[in-house]
Amino acid sequence: MENEKNEVIFADNYVTGSKENLEKWIGHPRFELIRHDVREPLLIEVDRIYHLVCPASPIFYKYNPVKTIQTNVIGTLSMSGVILLTSTSEVYVDPLIHPQPESYWGNVNPIGVRSCYDEGKASVQHGIEIRIARIFNTYGPRMNIDVGRVGSNFIPQALRGDALTIQKPGTQTRSFCYLSTWWKEMILALSTLVTQVGSQWWNWLRRLRRL
Ligand SMILES: NC(=O)c1ccc[n+]([C@@H]2O[C@H](COP(=O)([O-])OP(=O)(O)OC[C@H]3O[C@@H](n4cnc5c(N)ncnc54)[C@H](O)[C@@H]3O)[C@@H](O)[C@H]2O)c1
Repeated sequence: MENEKNEVIFADNYVTGSKENLEKWIGHPRFELIRHDVREPLLIEVDRIYHLVCPASPIFYKYNPVKTIQTNVIGTLSMSGVILLTSTSEVYVDPLIHPQPESYWGNVNPIGVRSCYDEGKASVQHGIEIRIARIFNTYGPRMNIDVGRVGSNFIPQALRGDALTIQKPGTQTRSFCYLSTWWKEMILALSTLVTQVGSQWWNWLRRLRRL
């Protein structure tokens, strides 16, 4: 928004976010903030939608699994236009192949405690122009800390001088991406022309690894 002439309408119900995170933009003439839950319809005309709502931390998305899956499914169904959906590595859940190519469908437990998030992220409406970016462990300023994600645990633990919590067996590998890089990629993903209308499945893992 800083470098362009775009107007931004930001809708959030603050379940894991907060108004304080947006302080910099509140009052800006090209920024509008709406308290809104995407499970309810919102009738506004826009050119592009960055669909980023959904608690990303396991602690939060498991807290109310029904709301989580509703946010992903109903929230996505109520959008139309050119949409960027931030999907997640969780659609592969416990993948048997590394790294995951787009031809790999994952190893999902449909009755597991995480399925509200995993299956919600796998639900996409057909017949709309959508780009799906699979993002992995993005971290940056103002993120919720100590909420069970590797970045949000490690960084504050390291800053406090605490021991880092390593989950068993300790041999896991992860890709990380800093927020400013992530935004450039998301804007690029939504700006890139696609010839096919429907679901576009893009795996950004290798690209983010190169950055
Ligand atoms: N951070 C990552 O590494 C990562 C990885 C994979 C996918 N994602 C996806 O990217 C998006 C953003 O992730 P994040 O890390 O910023 O998560 P976050 O939990 O910090 O932010 C999610 C935002 O969505 C809002 N929200 C949740 N449910 C809502 C609803 N029903 N209506 C309106 N607003 C609602 C929250 O208040 C919050 O501001 C999510 O869709 C997440 O699944 C993130």
